[in-house]
Amino acid sequence: MKRIVVTAPQLTDIVARELDGCEIIGGGHAMTREELAEQIVEADALLSSLSDPLDADILARATKLEVIGQCAAGFNNIDVDAARDRGIVVTTTPGVLHETTADLAFGLMLMVTRRLGEAERYVRAKQPWHYDHTFMLGMGLQGATLGIIGLGQIGEAMARRAAAFGMDVVYTARHDKDASAIDATNPSTAPTRRVELDELLRTSDVVSVHCPLTEQTRHIIDAGALAAMKSTAYLVNTARGACVDEKALVTALRNGEIAGAGLDVYENEPDIEPELYDMDNVVLLPHIGSAARRTREKMTELAARNIAAVLGGKDALTPVG
Ligand code: GLV
Repeated sequence: MKRIVVTAPQLTDIVARELDGCEIIGGGHAMTREELAEQIVEADALLSSLSDPLDADILARATKLEVIGQCAAGFNNIDVDAARDRGIVVTTTPGVLHETTADLAFGLMLMVTRRLGEAERYVRAKQPWHYDHTFMLGMGLQGATLGIIGLGQIGEAMARRAAAFGMDVVYTARHDKDASAIDATNPSTAPTRRVELDELLRTSDVVSVHCPLTEQTRHIIDAGALAAMKSTAYLVNTARGACVDEKALVTALRNGEIAGAGLDVYENEPDIEPELYDMDNVVLLPHIGSAARRTREKMTELAARNIAAVLGGKDALTPVG
């Protein structure tokens, strides 16, 4: 019987259904590094989470591991080269979470530009208020420019939403992307354009990060990038925390170099730079980009089906690389 190690809390009914006939270990709690190191030894498959440290040292302990079914779009926690060297197939869950994650990114953009978190905290604190023409003014999205770093599935879904709200979109990517679906969303916005990062930072009213975390994109938003942004611009990050230098972000916010930030991800999750908690122009969410029930069900199904395919001697459905 194949042994599947589920490394973190999971929708276990779906795992059991998709991997019927296998022995399933875990699925109710996040395994520590020590537990993972112990469990990986005898595992035929891992159903993994984005915070598992699947580095070369841990992978070296596997004796019969055939497949890692990562239940996430990102896989920066996995040493893919080390896995490949050991003949382990790595899979992820693209194509099922991008719309949901773009909803969240868009929500964060609205929250931070229209000061929704701050306004809600104000009301809940029972502060006196009445309608006032000059109260809680924020930035409207109509006519503003959204700069998308990384026009993959999630970036493109974010761009379509932005176009529907009347935003012009520019993006960075290694190559020109097909932007026809974005432009078709709203003929009155400017045609979507690929630009260099410098231009994107200088001209955008909102910069939204949607690239994977790699050695090239680690701290792609650093002190220099933040200084290049307009002082009236906002940063949104729903990708990976380490794409942004969080200490530099704190400094930039403290010095008024940018207007605010909406964050769902952090460099050292779940720890957050302490000063961010006290900044009213910052929205902080607990990495819930894809946390819609049906989306999480589809992610679990896909991760489990990838495992079943590889263990059954077939090609993975959505392998990395
Ligand atoms: C979430 O961050 C994911 O990569 O799926």
